[in-house]
Amino acid sequence: MEIIIADNAGFCFGVKRAVDITSDELLSANKDIYSLGPLIHNSQAVKKFEEKGLKTIDNIEGIQDSRIIIRSHGVSKSVIDKINKMNLDIIDSTCPYVKSVHKRVEEYQDQGYNIVIIGDPDHPEVIGINGWCNDKAFIVNSLEEATNLPRMDKICVVSQTTNTQEKFETISKLINEKGNEVKIFNTICNATNIRQESCKEVASKVDAMIVIGGYHSSNTNKLVEISKKYCNNVYHIETSKELPLQMLSKFNKIGITAGASTPDWIIKEVVEIMDNINNNEMMEAIENSFTRI
Ligand code: F3S
Repeated sequence: MEIIIADNAGFCFGVKRAVDITSDELLSANKDIYSLGPLIHNSQAVKKFEEKGLKTIDNIEGIQDSRIIIRSHGVSKSVIDKINKMNLDIIDSTCPYVKSVHKRVEEYQDQGYNIVIIGDPDHPEVIGINGWCNDKAFIVNSLEEATNLPRMDKICVVSQTTNTQEKFETISKLINEKGNEVKIFNTICNATNIRQESCKEVASKVDAMIVIGGYHSSNTNKLVEISKKYCNNVYHIETSKELPLQMLSKFNKIGITAGASTPDWIIKEVVEIMDNINNNEMMEAIENSFTRI
C-alpha cells in the first residue's frame, strides 16, 4: 500500500499564530483567560487548552477583570467595543488576512458600496466580517442566492477566506451583473488555496482519501468536498480512532490531508497507524483500534 501525504496539511499560519498567542498567555497567570468561542475548530485541541486553564465562553456577559482571546476567525466591531467598554483585556489573535477583509468592507461601505460576502452566513468569520459593515452585508452562499440579489448601484464583493476558488468565481461572475459599479475582491487566503490545490493533486491519484479535521471546520469540509470530486472513497475523521481500518486495507494507494485547524499530533497518529498497516501489521492495527475505542 502506498500512502501519500498532501503538502501543507495541518495548521495554517493564522491558526498557528492564534495557538501560539494563547499558549504564551496561558503561561502568565495574572488574570483569568477566556476564549470567545472555541479557540480552533478542533475539539481535541480545545480540550488540551482547557486543561491548561483556558475557559471557552459564548458571550462576555458577567465576565470581570479577565483576558479575552479573540480567535483567528475574528469578531465584529461591536464585540470589540463591548469588550473595551467592560475594561477587559483583549488578546486579539484575529488572522491578519481576516483583519484585512474587515478593513476592506468598512472602507468600501463608507464609500457608498453595498457589501456582498460570499460565504456561510452561520460561520463566525462571516458574522465577524458583516459586523465591520454594520451588519448590512448581503451574504450569499449559492448561485441561487446570488441570482436573487437586487440590482444595486455600487457593489463590493469579498469572500469567506476558506471558500473554494470555483465557488467564488462562479458566484462572483453572477454578482458582477447585478450592479453598475462592481468591485470584486478575491479574499480567499493563500493558505486555503495551497491546501486545496495539494488536496486536489493527491485525491486525483489515489484510491481512497483520508481527510483529518473537525466536523465543524469549514476549511476541512471544503477539503472533503474537493476530495469527493476527484476520488470515490473519502473518509472524514477527527482522530485516529475513527480510521475505518478494515475498509482502508483493500486500497492500494491512500492519500492523507488535514484541515488548517488540525494539530500535528493528530496527523502523526493517523500516519503512524497507516504506516503500521503498510508494514503488514493490519490485524494488529485493527485490534489496537478496537481496544482504544
Ligand atoms: Fe488565516 Fe487563512 Fe488560516 S485566513 S486563519 S491563514 S485559513
